[in-house]
Amino acid sequence: MANGILKGKKGIIFGALNDKSIAWQAALKAHAEGADFVLTNAPIAMRMGEIKNLAATCNNAQIIPCDVSKEDEMQNLITKSMEILGGKIDFVLHSVGMSLNIRKGKSYTELDYKFMHDTLDISAISFHRLMKTLYNSDAMQNEGSILALTYIAAQRVFPDYSEMADAKSLLESITRSFGYHFGKRNKVRVNTISQSPTVTTAGSGVKGFGTFVDYAEALSPLGNANAEECADYIVSMFSDYTKKVTMQNLFHDGGFSFTGFSEDVFNVGK
Ligand SMILES: NC(=O)c1ccc[n+]([C@@H]2O[C@H](COP(=O)([O-])OP(=O)(O)OC[C@H]3O[C@@H](n4cnc5c(N)ncnc54)[C@H](O)[C@@H]3O)[C@@H](O)[C@H]2O)c1
Repeated sequence: MANGILKGKKGIIFGALNDKSIAWQAALKAHAEGADFVLTNAPIAMRMGEIKNLAATCNNAQIIPCDVSKEDEMQNLITKSMEILGGKIDFVLHSVGMSLNIRKGKSYTELDYKFMHDTLDISAISFHRLMKTLYNSDAMQNEGSILALTYIAAQRVFPDYSEMADAKSLLESITRSFGYHFGKRNKVRVNTISQSPTVTTAGSGVKGFGTFVDYAEALSPLGNANAEECADYIVSMFSDYTKKVTMQNLFHDGGFSFTGFSEDVFNVGK
């Protein structure tokens, strides 16, 4: 159903690890809609090599490694992306998240604070670092669009989501705060998409993830949104059809966030 809504637009896409990744699907859609972009991920993730297959499918997109916790790597990414793409950037997707405490099996009541600092840095503060680098490099095209991905655990408690809930709250706050400044100076919009639980490498790391997915599917009148559907929403947010949407947390969850009750929930796990 491609309509060329990103024709002539230039972007940067973070976080395509494998074909399950939301960013991977977003890259495929952005390419189909006519965009040119640079792909990036942490150097360690790149060693797995799969991103090269994605790049080949997307008009031989260039890949630039960047650990989002490193300021110099972020600056290098932005500078090189402008060189490669031949000018300012129209859209950026931050599709990055990682919880060290979840990975190390530490429960919320027993958080290791060194791990927690790294989690907040990689999953939330990196969004500020990205926008600060874009802002100070005057790298964004006027009326461009910047997006990050979040989860409803920022508003409601999902106990096993642990410290990532705190990271997502911070991410959403940074979105509003930086959205103000970028809007004032460049009419750039900054938003988060709050996505349904989706079977990806990051998602599956959360304990009891399968039950999460089934519960959300049963509660949501439209059912869960998958990664491909999320990618459709992402490209619409990068297009010129959404120029006045900014500083928002946009639920893309089949209605989960506003549903109080559904009988289908009783059948989960039966
Ligand atoms: N899967 C879900 O259920 C779900 C739901 C809502 C929101 N999200 C969010 O969507 C985003 C993308 O996750 P996904 O589900 O596609 O999983 P994913 O595992 O495919 O993507 C996460 C990405 O973050 C990257 N990353 C981790 N540390 C990094 C670092 N230091 N520097 C650069 N990149 C780094 C990983 O390499 C990976 O590509 C995340 O923000 C996640 O929290 C996921």
